[in-house]
Amino acid sequence: MRSTQIRSTFLDFFTSRGHRQVPSSPLIPSDPTLLLANAGMNQFKPYFLGEVTPDFPRATTIQKCARTSDIDNVGRTNRHATFFEMMGNFSFGDYFKADAIAFAWELLTEGYQLEKDRLWITVYQDDDEAEQLWRRIGVPAERIQRLGMEDNFWSMGVPGPCGPCSEVNYDRGPAFGREGGPAVDGERYVEIWNLVFMQYQRGEGDKKGDFPILGDLAQQSIDTGLGLDRLAAILQDVENVCGTDLLRPTLTTVQELSGREYPGSGEEKVSFQVVAEHARSIAYLIADGVLPAKDGRGYVLRRLMRRAIRHARLLGIDKAVLAPTTASVIANLGDVWPELTAQAALIEQVVTAEEESFTRTLAQGTRLLNAAITRSRENRSTTLTGDTAFELHDTFGFPVELTIEAARDAGLTVDENRFADLLTEQQRRAKAGGKAKTAEALRRQDAYRELSARHGRTDFVGYDRLGAEATVLGLISDGTVVPGADQGSTVELVLDRSPFYAESGGQVGDTGTIRTADGTLLEVLDTKPGLEGFHVHTVRVAEGEIRTGQQAEALVNGARREAVARSHSATHVLHAMLRRTLGDHARQHGSLVDAGRLRFDFAHFSAVDRPQLAAIETLVNDSLLADPEVRVWHASRAEAEAAGATALFGEKYGDHVRIVDIGDFSRELCGGTHIGHGSNAGPVRIVGEASIGSNIRRIEALTGRDALDHYDTERRLLEELSALLGTRPQDAPDALRKRLNTLASAERELGRLRETELRDRAQQLAASARTVTGGRVVTEKVTGIGPDELRTLAHHAVGLLDTGHAVVVLGTEHQGKALLAAAITRSLHDTGTEASRILVPAARMVGGGTGGKGPVASAGGRRVKALDEALAIAAEDAARVLGQ
Ligand code: SER
Repeated sequence: MRSTQIRSTFLDFFTSRGHRQVPSSPLIPSDPTLLLANAGMNQFKPYFLGEVTPDFPRATTIQKCARTSDIDNVGRTNRHATFFEMMGNFSFGDYFKADAIAFAWELLTEGYQLEKDRLWITVYQDDDEAEQLWRRIGVPAERIQRLGMEDNFWSMGVPGPCGPCSEVNYDRGPAFGREGGPAVDGERYVEIWNLVFMQYQRGEGDKKGDFPILGDLAQQSIDTGLGLDRLAAILQDVENVCGTDLLRPTLTTVQELSGREYPGSGEEKVSFQVVAEHARSIAYLIADGVLPAKDGRGYVLRRLMRRAIRHARLLGIDKAVLAPTTASVIANLGDVWPELTAQAALIEQVVTAEEESFTRTLAQGTRLLNAAITRSRENRSTTLTGDTAFELHDTFGFPVELTIEAARDAGLTVDENRFADLLTEQQRRAKAGGKAKTAEALRRQDAYRELSARHGRTDFVGYDRLGAEATVLGLISDGTVVPGADQGSTVELVLDRSPFYAESGGQVGDTGTIRTADGTLLEVLDTKPGLEGFHVHTVRVAEGEIRTGQQAEALVNGARREAVARSHSATHVLHAMLRRTLGDHARQHGSLVDAGRLRFDFAHFSAVDRPQLAAIETLVNDSLLADPEVRVWHASRAEAEAAGATALFGEKYGDHVRIVDIGDFSRELCGGTHIGHGSNAGPVRIVGEASIGSNIRRIEALTGRDALDHYDTERRLLEELSALLGTRPQDAPDALRKRLNTLASAERELGRLRETELRDRAQQLAASARTVTGGRVVTEKVTGIGPDELRTLAHHAVGLLDTGHAVVVLGTEHQGKALLAAAITRSLHDTGTEASRILVPAARMVGGGTGGKGPVASAGGRRVKALDEALAIAAEDAARVLGQ
């Protein structure tokens, strides 16, 4: 059975049993606690927690998942992957264990026709009910095993819903491993389907079995995941997931590039599989907006790329490997996952740039590594220090496996314990920073949950009006729900109905006022979504006091909202024009939509040069001046996508979406507030463009009144400059250019005169030389001269005395400091004397120091009064040096 049929069989089975088919969420999750989408249930987390009630009680998806916890197994086992498609069915408070088990059994044995006696079941250690259900369906007791937290209790790895699970495993036969069921051998009895019985909420904890259970979920739910790769390997009767139609074409590409045959001998097989498997993850991650970076999800991607490159080199592939292998992923899977095809150009550019840069790093790192190996050898050590391995890893992004391998070749072992300690320490530091923040956030979240469970979501009325009558539903102070708040305090406040937009999609939250009939006045400082659809207002009680249950009049600051709306519409237009000018890859990666200004981050590989930037600005303004209508409409997600609406990476959209059209050139899914017509935006003025990370650029711009103010400021500056130049503004550049030319020639002339003067003075100084035993000496206090000129003057003067040994020491007072310079003739220098030696005691006298080698030396100190004395000492020292 081809993978396309495996997918459709799954979806048909569940949609015909009342499940709503929901598209995969992107790999960048909207859940901030999660780095990458790692399970089909991620996008439904609020449903499981009961924070949001879905329109449908059952769902089915094919979810893109990325997991790196098993990265070391990839290529080494038949079943592990860093990216996979997970087919799932979900029940949100609808059916539970019995139906979930019955569905799975029916689909596997009838839909996919798996032999019943090859199916083994695991259940959670004390889940008698699940075991009974499987037995009733016909699974014999000897093929049901009980396992503990580690295997049969599932959570996302972060706080959220969780529960015991039951897994279906397929016996691949004795060729794959030992007898004894999944508890004994996971490679022979491969886990294919995990049924999670969601019923608890877990708290913060490090690993499985080590987190607290906070309590029951309001309702029991089902979350299942059937791994497409693994099922395909079984149904297509291939040993390894890389042999399925999902990965085989990519494996063939690796074969062609290397000129070797898969599986090859020993470790070659591992390398083949790593390259093919990682190429797939890389393509999907980039298509969903992940770009290589030093940390976070960008680092996950980078690590996959570097690992793939390294294994390609081990296979003898010296040319580019990522571009051709990801291209083969796109060719193979682009029909099913159109984002791959849509982002093909981006994928190629990103992998090519990363491979080029890592290839250079690989060379640099190798040099450092070889030097460290040589050092170890010289010290007769048999180890390479963990510090070196860590430096290679940290600074050069050098995989530690590679260091270990190279060290081994040189007969050395790496101090892996030390390396691990350094790594743990680094991670601990990073984590400690994160944790404090999470504790505070969790407390608040609990308060929001409590209030939203009691009152439901906020009725947001702010799209159409700026004011509303509302009831105060709750007050939160420092994360605790409180009954009231007094004058002067700042608290969080929840209303049943609110005209205040809560910060999201980059748009800042609204500010304004809330008043009660008895004269209490609250200033709304900010509005944020505490939970999805649940507005939390940060307010300062300016007058009176506020109690839960009071009626109030909420009023948004209209001028500010209007200025924000301008920026929001301008942002959409900018996004459209960037993509038109730079290419389709120039997609939004983040934005800030604020009153009168915006910040827009997008994918691009190089700086946008000035002419391009100017062209983009003009395009944006022309598009707005044409006064396009800004139209807001609603549709199903599928309709919106069919209509070509742009969805943003990392944003979560429900099934019903809001779409904002501007003219016929921009169509985005967007929950923000906008102006009615393009011309309302006023001018847009780009004020900056810069890099903010690998392959991400940031544009900053001003809109509306702020853009006009910026022009005003610039005009005033120009007026001031032209007034200074005594010209009209339009003549200012020419006038300035002329003046700068005149100034430059005047400076040159001045330099020439100064040089002549110095030479004259040098002559006078040389003429004043005193003869002492062994040569001639000049010591003199001069005036009107800076440090550089003092040295030059000493140098010139001694040059005129170059017929024998001579010393010139000059001193001057300059900007409150005593300066000294000494110069000696070449002949004296040739005897091994340094000019600085003559100057040491004198320098000390004025409170300074000197040193260094050469025929000229200088010194400076604060004790101006000691200058004469210092010169006298220098004269004595000069005479002594000459006399030796
Ligand atoms: N969430 C579970 C898993 O990922 C089942 O979908 O295994």
